[in-house]
Amino acid sequence: MITMLDQLNRHECARIEAFKTHLSLAKVESLSWDDLLEILIQRRFLSLSIVNIYEFVIDALESESIKTAVRLILHEEYPRNTRGVPLVSHRELLFRDLLNLGASRDQILMSGESPLTQEVRLQSLSQLECCLGHVHSELALVSFLRFWAEVLVAVEYECLWPRLAERLSPPSSSQGIASQFFYYHMIHDRRQSDLGDGQLLGGLTHAQALARHIPELINDESALQEAMRQVDRAWELKVRFYSQFRRFGSAQASRR
Ligand SMILES: [Fe+2]
Repeated sequence: MITMLDQLNRHECARIEAFKTHLSLAKVESLSWDDLLEILIQRRFLSLSIVNIYEFVIDALESESIKTAVRLILHEEYPRNTRGVPLVSHRELLFRDLLNLGASRDQILMSGESPLTQEVRLQSLSQLECCLGHVHSELALVSFLRFWAEVLVAVEYECLWPRLAERLSPPSSSQGIASQFFYYHMIHDRRQSDLGDGQLLGGLTHAQALARHIPELINDESALQEAMRQVDRAWELKVRFYSQFRRFGSAQASRR
C-alpha cells in the first residue's frame, strides 16, 4: 500500500527531476562565463534573503522542537570559534567564491537586483505568510522552508557545480582554489534520504534535519495536500527565478 509519506516522497523526487531538466539549468554547460556570473550574482540576492526566511519561520512556529532545529541551521550561517569569536559568515564565503570564480567586487556589489529576482525574493517571503492561520501551519512552514532553502538549493548547486569546478575545487582537493560556499551547501543542504527514513541519526544534512519533523505532522489527506502544495510553490518560485536567464541558453544554442 502506498502511504501518504510515499506519495510525498514521490512528489518531491518528481519535482527535483523536473527542476534539474529545467531549461536554464540544463544548458548550464554551454553558458559563457559572463552569463554564468550574472546568474550567480542574481542568485546571491536569494542567499542574502535566507536569513529573513529563517527568522520568519522561527517566529511563526509554535513547536519548540522544530524551532530548535530551524534555529540550529540558521546559526550555522554565522559560525564562531571555540572562544565565541565570530568567524566568516556563509554570505561572506559566497562573496569569496564569486571573486574566485572571476567576478569583480564592483560587479557583485553594483549589479543590482533584477526586477524578477526581487519579485521572486518578495514572493518567497509572502509565501510564508500564506502558511499561517490554518490547521497545517507548522507543516506548511517547515515544508516550504525545507524545499526552498535546503533541498532545491543543493539541487541548484549540483547542477551548477560542473561549471563552477572549472575554476573552483572541492575543499578536500589539494589543488586549485577551494570552494568555500557552493560545494559546502551542495553537500550539506541536500535531501539525501526520503521523508520517514528511520535511519536519521547524527551527521544530518539541513534538509534531513528539517525532514525529521515532517512525518509527525502528516496525519491526514489534507495535511499531505498542504505539504505537496508547499513543495510546488517553492519549485515554482525557483523555476521563475531561473526563467529570467532563458535567453542565455537560447543565444548559446543559436550560435552553434
Ligand atoms: Fe543549509
